[in-house]
Amino acid sequence: MSELNTLIQSTQQTLERIVRDFTPAVFASSLAAEDMVLTDLILKAKLPITIFSLETGRLHAETLAMLDKVKETYGYEIALYRPQPEAVEAYVAQNGLNAFYDSVEMRKECCRIRKVEPLGRALAGNQAWITGQRRAQSATRTSLMIEEDDPAHFMTKFNPLADWSEQDVWTYLRDNKVPYNALHDKGYPSIGCEPCTRAIEPGEDVRAGRWWWENPESKECGLHVVDGKLIRIKSVAA
Ligand code: ADX
Ligand code: SF4
Repeated sequence: MSELNTLIQSTQQTLERIVRDFTPAVFASSLAAEDMVLTDLILKAKLPITIFSLETGRLHAETLAMLDKVKETYGYEIALYRPQPEAVEAYVAQNGLNAFYDSVEMRKECCRIRKVEPLGRALAGNQAWITGQRRAQSATRTSLMIEEDDPAHFMTKFNPLADWSEQDVWTYLRDNKVPYNALHDKGYPSIGCEPCTRAIEPGEDVRAGRWWWENPESKECGLHVVDGKLIRIKSVAA
């Protein structure tokens, strides 16, 4: 069996184990390449895992178009969680629409309102959540585990693609004819909100285009951070 097939099989086993031992579980999809691998694996196997996206109000049109693509391809409607309008209005009124460029604190506050608070609502009542994070993605993810405790949300968090390389992701998408975000063909290996993501040059780090004005160490939006620290507690093989 090829190395990728072995990875695929163990990822399928992780997903099956989540369904067996952690129901109800949800998958947070940013609609980027990694998340399309997991979407394909979950929906083709008809696993009872709810897929949701945090619709921040600042996503690219290409990212939003993926919601229809997923519906067309799999007949599945991704659940959307949006920020509280009053919180967005207050932030914009006090600081301006693009205040996240002014400081890391302002940026994290925008991410808190547009991503972290809605994430809390999306996760409520579940036993586990799943992400598309990979270890090789950034300086902040080098110790990423397939299974971790997430004390901020009182549940277990799974990163089933932790061991996958970027090439594994793209081989999977091509082999399985999985739809993907059009921005990936325009120099965007990593995609977040439109004003906080830009295309990268060949040879640059895959997350170099995310919050490009900040240091690599601060480049997390709070979805994967607890009290300012990354939580990496345990690793259990599938
Ligand atoms: S981020 O936390 O810095 O934005 P990244 O874009 O690499 O991270 O995504 C890592 C994982 O976080 C994704 O695979 C997905 O599980 C989750 N995630 C990121 N953005 C969203 C979003 N808008 N909606 C749902 N999940 C998201
Ligand atoms: Fe706000 Fe940018 Fe964070 Fe999106 S990525 S929530 S626009 S700071």
